[in-house]
Amino acid sequence: MEIAFLLNGETIRLGSSPTRTLLDYLREDRRLTGTKEGCNEGDCGACTVTVDDGSGPKAMNACILFLPQLHGKSVRTVEGFGGAGANHPVQDALVRLHGSQCGFCTPGFVASMVAGHAQGRTDHDDVLAGNLCRCTGDAPIVRAAEATEGAPLPGWIAADQAARPATDPAPFAPETVDELARWYAANPDATLVAGATDIGLWVTKGLRDLPKVAFLNRCRDLQEIVVGADSIRVGAGVTVNALRAALTDLMPSYAGMLRRYGSEQVRNAATIGGNIANGSPIGDNPPALIALGATLHLRHGQKRRHLPIEQFFIDYGKQDRAPGELVEAITMPRTAPMLRCYKLSKRFDQDISAVCGCFNLHVEGGKVTSARIAFGGMAGTPRRAANVEASLVGKEWTEATVRAALPAFAQDFTPMSDMRASAAYRLQTAQNLLLRYFADLAGTETSVLEVQA
Ligand SMILES: Cc1cc2nc3c(=O)[nH]c(=O)nc-3n(C[C@H](O)[C@H](O)[C@H](O)COP(=O)(O)OP(=O)(O)OC[C@H]3O[C@@H](n4cnc5c(N)ncnc54)[C@H](O)[C@@H]3O)c2cc1C
Ligand code: FES
Ligand code: FES
Repeated sequence: MEIAFLLNGETIRLGSSPTRTLLDYLREDRRLTGTKEGCNEGDCGACTVTVDDGSGPKAMNACILFLPQLHGKSVRTVEGFGGAGANHPVQDALVRLHGSQCGFCTPGFVASMVAGHAQGRTDHDDVLAGNLCRCTGDAPIVRAAEATEGAPLPGWIAADQAARPATDPAPFAPETVDELARWYAANPDATLVAGATDIGLWVTKGLRDLPKVAFLNRCRDLQEIVVGADSIRVGAGVTVNALRAALTDLMPSYAGMLRRYGSEQVRNAATIGGNIANGSPIGDNPPALIALGATLHLRHGQKRRHLPIEQFFIDYGKQDRAPGELVEAITMPRTAPMLRCYKLSKRFDQDISAVCGCFNLHVEGGKVTSARIAFGGMAGTPRRAANVEASLVGKEWTEATVRAALPAFAQDFTPMSDMRASAAYRLQTAQNLLLRYFADLAGTETSVLEVQA
């Protein structure tokens, strides 16, 4: 694949295999060894670089970023953040405030801080949650980020945006969803690569070859969010961070849950389409979308079909998607004042859910008129709690009703034990989340069940 991008201000044109990672290219071909390899699976942030598609630098993990994903973009590494012999202000602040010891994590932290600084961010804990430091500790690093707030932007940001190489349309990177749908219908054995936050690991950890691929990140119409009077249509290529930004005012609970999805670097890459299409039972978007009663839009060539998203997840590893059919978009209601989304994981940040519970009830005249409750982590697919819902609908919305519905969880789910949680923990915390939902809406505190395992 012939690709072109800007690296630290220099135009790079090269032929790349579809799955060569940016990290390998930087370290092995360019000897830009400031960018480190830690986990090689998107967890530690040691490989963080900034990538700009024209909308400003964003932090990304180079270890799970394939070179063709950079076509037409600009990249900066730790070697390129200063200018003409000077450091970037975040680098000076890290030195001054003792934000580095062994230095292994430092280039990755610098990259995240440079992106955060360019975006005018002050939520440094969020910005830096995807970078792990084993020796310095976070406090001096966060102090360095605070000390840099408001410092002038480096000149290379504007220069890179002006100098991004013009790119010819490439067959591996369609620019419209029409083109993509036509190509995929004719090549149903191909792999679609969206953010590569799953596929990256198939390659770096599973050592898989992907002979035929198409990259989705140049399909602009797949990245649209259209907020209508009653509904929101989200293109499959919308990143988790873009979705979170769009939902911050409209659905704060959903947006708040997405703030705990992976890390800043993961959210800048991962797409909602990938999070649905992979059919994972522990993906964070599907339970929220099921609770919202969202509609999934699928497309095969020129043929489109639409289905309630819960019907898409047939069984573990099995989704209602034909070969050559792609996820095009998802439509959800514009607002859902009673929606609450809860994510339980071992770590607050940068962790996959053990249980993700999303609740969306309607209450009129003190009675529950409808209920949509969906969970991730409780079965082989993201799934509704149909018996719990049935126990609530038509009843008074009281704590007694909620407590009476709790045994129905055992009818709905037989969760498994794994490294994230035991079956007993999952069942009991699912029940507790319903109590928490009631307490959140009532603005009261309620006693939860005792967790035994
Ligand atoms: C460090 C780390 C942390 C993570 N944390 C979380 C987390 O907190 N919560 C969570 O839910 N997930 C998490 N994930 C998992 C991952 O981010 C998600 O599954 C992600 O949404 C996948 O989206 P993607 O765009 O990266 O998909 P990709 O990796 O590009 O693709 C995933 C699958 O979907 C297919 N696909 C992608 N787009 C389409 C489309 N439009 N139509 C048809 N098929 C398509 C691909 O072919 C592939 O089979 C994490 C991953 C990492 C590496
Ligand atoms: S090497 Fe750990 S996130 Fe890339
Ligand atoms: S300074 Fe050593 S790992 Fe962070």
